[in-house]
Amino acid sequence: MAAPTVSTTSVFSADLLRDKVALVTGGGSGIGKGIAIALARHGASVIILGRNQERLAQAAKDLTAETGKACETASADVRDVKSLQSVLEPIVNRLGGKLDILVNSAAGNFLAPVTKLSANAFKTVISIDLLGTFNVIKVCQDWLIKAKGNILNISATLQYRGTPLQTHAAAAKAGIDSLTKTIATEWGVHGVRINGIAPGPIASTEGWQRLLPGEARDQALRNIPLQRFGTVGDIEQAALFLTSPAASWVTGHTIVVDGGEWLTSVFYGYPDIVTGKMPLDAKL
Ligand code: NAP
Ligand code: COA
Repeated sequence: MAAPTVSTTSVFSADLLRDKVALVTGGGSGIGKGIAIALARHGASVIILGRNQERLAQAAKDLTAETGKACETASADVRDVKSLQSVLEPIVNRLGGKLDILVNSAAGNFLAPVTKLSANAFKTVISIDLLGTFNVIKVCQDWLIKAKGNILNISATLQYRGTPLQTHAAAAKAGIDSLTKTIATEWGVHGVRINGIAPGPIASTEGWQRLLPGEARDQALRNIPLQRFGTVGDIEQAALFLTSPAASWVTGHTIVVDGGEWLTSVFYGYPDIVTGKMPLDAKL
């Protein structure tokens, strides 16, 4: 089995991101929350953004308890450009009018076959994941260019092959990977880098619970070459590398952090789970 995740401070210095200002969408939970805390642990002033103010307040409290740093919360929907602008502007101005790091982790997903996926359901996931990522980048563009900052887009591996029940999310994440490459070619001249992380299954997160229900989880574990599920800490390590000066000549690239999972994985219960003979949360 692979070695367990180590603490980020045993790899990166505590002042790696000193004086940096970072915005993490989806920073109220799961992978986004872990990245937000990791950035703060290494010196950054962090803003977390999501729809649910209560969840953001709790995450900010947790961040402060762990790092001793204050944390700003921004309650907005990434589908709503006007609200993003009006919520973020005063916060960023208070923090110096520049943004060094933008992490796009906000997303929505569920398992659904195309036959059960309404046009609105498809559009909803594209709007949150792909258009939401674009919207936040656009709202932040002047602040990022001013800081010669960098962007980190949280992607996935399901678009690397055909993944049944994931038409909506796979299309959205493929689009996000394309944004990562294309914007890298335009904003490099401004000194702005943009990269991505494609996580494999990260234990105990919302995505893991939604996408690996029932005993698919045990089956999935067997298929991971490094023989364990990922941790939020595994993603924190890659995020610190990509957002720090250690990656100052890396742009337009999406790093896969998945224990080798996508290289070997099959879709559990296929094809019965697709034809509906087997329920989505079946015991396999
Ligand atoms: P999560 O805890 O559900 O995180 C998603 C976050 O996005 C939530 O905090 C949610 O907060 C926010 N959000 C959702 N819709 C939003 C909207 N319209 N506007 C603003 N914020 C919104 O899920 P997670 O599993 O940690 O996933 C985080 C990222 O990792 C996602 O991009 C996901 O695709 C990616 N990923 C996860 C895994 C995994 O195993 N977990 C694997 C591959 C990729 P509110 O509900 O408060 O808005
Ligand atoms: N299967 C099929 N369709 C579904 C679905 C499911 N499991 N869940 C929602 N939908 C459809 C709805 O029926 C609706 O379509 P309709 O109008 O044709 O009926 C459409 O998707 C929008 O649903 P709604 O609940 O209005 O969207 P929302 O904007 O409130 O929420 C979601 C977005 C659906 C993605 C919600 O699950 C969410 O907020 N997720 C965030 C957390 C998350 O997914 N984390 C994991 C990240 S990997």
